[in-house]
Amino acid sequence: MKKIVVLISGSGSNLEAIAKACQTGNIPATIELVISNQPNVKGLDRAKKFHLMSKVIEHQQYNSREEFDQALLDQILPIEPDLVILAGFMRILSSNFTDTLSGKLINIHPSLLPDYPGLNTHKQAIENGDLMHGVSVHYVNSELDGGPIITQGALKIDPSQSEAKLINRIHKIEHAVYPKVIADIAKGYITLKGDQVKFESDSNFGPNHMEFFNV
Ligand code: GAR
Repeated sequence: MKKIVVLISGSGSNLEAIAKACQTGNIPATIELVISNQPNVKGLDRAKKFHLMSKVIEHQQYNSREEFDQALLDQILPIEPDLVILAGFMRILSSNFTDTLSGKLINIHPSLLPDYPGLNTHKQAIENGDLMHGVSVHYVNSELDGGPIITQGALKIDPSQSEAKLINRIHKIEHAVYPKVIADIAKGYITLKGDQVKFESDSNFGPNHMEFFNV
């Protein structure tokens, strides 16, 4: 069984999708620890629901980004995780953190990267009149929402729909795609070699993989 640590900041719906997939055996791994940088978020309730160990490490309690990131590493490294998953973790990470966990750190971002790193991706896609929007799963480097892309999931924007509806549709893609990627990584089908993602033939994914979702 592979060991996973999940970092969250909010609702934790992706955490729940991952936890379910671990529970059913679709992901051959156990979530050893959930860390939230925000207290009292719904994600912590979801962790409890799945009997997962969780810790709150509040970034406000630290003088610098580096000190906060070191506090995270102090919790993460003793676990010797195979994978550290950012699931709605809304902090920029220092290069010491991303370098230390290089090849073991993945993120899901609600845009078709390189479009719209950062915040308010859905609003930007709507306001720019984009036809497509989506999600990207990627290995994490020290750039904001940067690093080699593993896969992308796309949908067609309906201009008559609200931003809330679009967010909801994007979440559906995230909950389908993220556990599937994590399962492939846990099975050793996806790895990072230097700055290239390597896909074994058994993987559900491959170079420049993008799936269209009718959600
Ligand atoms: C997700 O949409 C995720 O892609 C996004 O935060 C949301 C968290 O939802 N992450 C980022 O924007 C990272 N840059 P959740 O807490 O319900 O999983």
